[in-house]
Amino acid sequence: MPDFARFTLGSRVAPISVEGYRRQARKRLPDMVWSYVDGAADGQVTLNDNRTGFLKWRLRQRSLTGISKPVLATRIAGQDVSLPIAFAPTGLSGLTRWNGDVAAARAAESAGTRLCLSTGSSWTLEEVAGATQQDHWFQLYPFGNRKKVGELITRAEDAGYKALFVTVDVPVRGNREGERETGMGLPLTFTPSNIFDAARRPRWVWELLRHQRAVAIQYAQAGAAGVRAAVIAANEQDRYMQGDLHWDDLAWMRQRWKGPLYVKGVLDADDAARCIDEIGAEGVVVSNHGARQLDHALGTIDALPAIVDRIAGRGEVYLDGGIRRGTDVIIALALGAKGVFVGRPYLYGLAVDGEQGARNILNILREDMVRALILMGCPDVMALDRSWLIPAGTPAAAR
Ligand SMILES: Cc1cc2nc3c(=O)[nH]c(=O)nc-3n(C[C@H](O)[C@H](O)[C@H](O)COP(=O)(O)O)c2cc1C
Repeated sequence: MPDFARFTLGSRVAPISVEGYRRQARKRLPDMVWSYVDGAADGQVTLNDNRTGFLKWRLRQRSLTGISKPVLATRIAGQDVSLPIAFAPTGLSGLTRWNGDVAAARAAESAGTRLCLSTGSSWTLEEVAGATQQDHWFQLYPFGNRKKVGELITRAEDAGYKALFVTVDVPVRGNREGERETGMGLPLTFTPSNIFDAARRPRWVWELLRHQRAVAIQYAQAGAAGVRAAVIAANEQDRYMQGDLHWDDLAWMRQRWKGPLYVKGVLDADDAARCIDEIGAEGVVVSNHGARQLDHALGTIDALPAIVDRIAGRGEVYLDGGIRRGTDVIIALALGAKGVFVGRPYLYGLAVDGEQGARNILNILREDMVRALILMGCPDVMALDRSWLIPAGTPAAAR
C-alpha cells in the first residue's frame, strides 16, 4: 500500500469542519431534537446576521515574519485556558447525546478550556463537578424567585464552580417555529410522524430510554421518570421564566455571588456599561442566545465594537454566536473580545461522536486558528487588535 493513501475498515472518516459535523449530526438526530439544537427564532434574520457579520471583515496578511508557532493561550473568566474558546451553556444537551454535559465538560478540560454549565443541564451541578478535574463555570437563569436563585447559587459555590454567568435575554421564550412545527414546543406534542422519525434512530432512542437524561434535571421532580419527568421539568422551567427580572435582581445576585460574575445576553452598549459600572460585574458576554430569542436583534459580531469601545477596558468582553471557524475567533478577538464561546458546534460534535466529537470541534478550531495566525504573521492572540482587520471591499489605496 503506498503511504499516500490508506484504507480503514469499519470506521468512517471523521468530519473535518464544524459544518461537516453539522451535516452528520443532522442525520443522527430526530427532527424534534434537530429543530431544538439547530433552530432559531422567527424568520432567522439574526441567525443569518450572526454568520454574515463575519463576512464584513478581512484579515491583514503580513509576509516573511518567521512566525511558525503562534500562542493561543489566554485567560477566560479568571482561568488560564489553552485557547480563547470555551463551551457556551446549552440546556438539555442530554438530548444530543445521553452523557451531554459531562462529555462536554470533559472534552473542554482535556483541550485545556472550560464548559459553562447551563441551569437547564441534563446532569446536575454536582454530577458534572464530580466527573471532571477542573472547576467549570455555571450559567444561571435568574428567574424572579430569589429563593430558587439563592439555592442554585449555594449549590454552585459548594460544588466549586468558579464563575457565574447570569443570562438576561430570556424574559420570555423566543418563538422558535421549527420547534413548534416538530412538536418540540411546549406542550411537547407526539404524533405518529415524529415518533416514527425518532424510531428510525434506534441507537438514539435506546440511549435516551436507558439513561433518562432528556430532562432539565435542575428542575426535575423527585420520583418522576421518562417523558413525564421531562414535561414536568420543562413546565417548571417555564413557570420560573425571568419576565419580571430587573436591575435590582442582578444587583442582588452580584452581592450574593462572591466570585467573578458575567452578564450573558447583552447587545447594547448602555446596558454593558451599567453591568460593569453600576452592578460591578467582571464582564459581559455579547450574545443573542444563538439567535433563539429576539429576531432582528443585532448579530453579535456587529454589536461587539460599540460595546468594547464603551467598556474601554473597565471589564472583560466575550462574544458568542455564529463562531464556526478559527478565522471567526480571530475577527472577534481583533474587534476586542477577550475570548469566545461556541454552542451548537459542540452539540454537533456530541451528536456525532460523544465526548470525542466535542473535543474534535475544539481541535478543528484550534488548528484553524494556528494556521490562520501563521498565514497572517501574528505571533499571539493577545496581539490581535483592529489593526489586523480590513473592512471587506476596501480598496488598497484607502487603507
Ligand atoms: C440547544 C441550545 C440550548 C441553549 N441553552 C442555553 C441555556 O440553557 N442557557 C443560556 O444562557 N444559553 C443557552 N443557549 C445559548 C448559548 O449559550 C449560546 O449563546 C449560543 O448557542 C451561541 O451561538 P452558537 O450556537 O451559534 O455558537 C442555548 C443554545 C442552544 C443552541
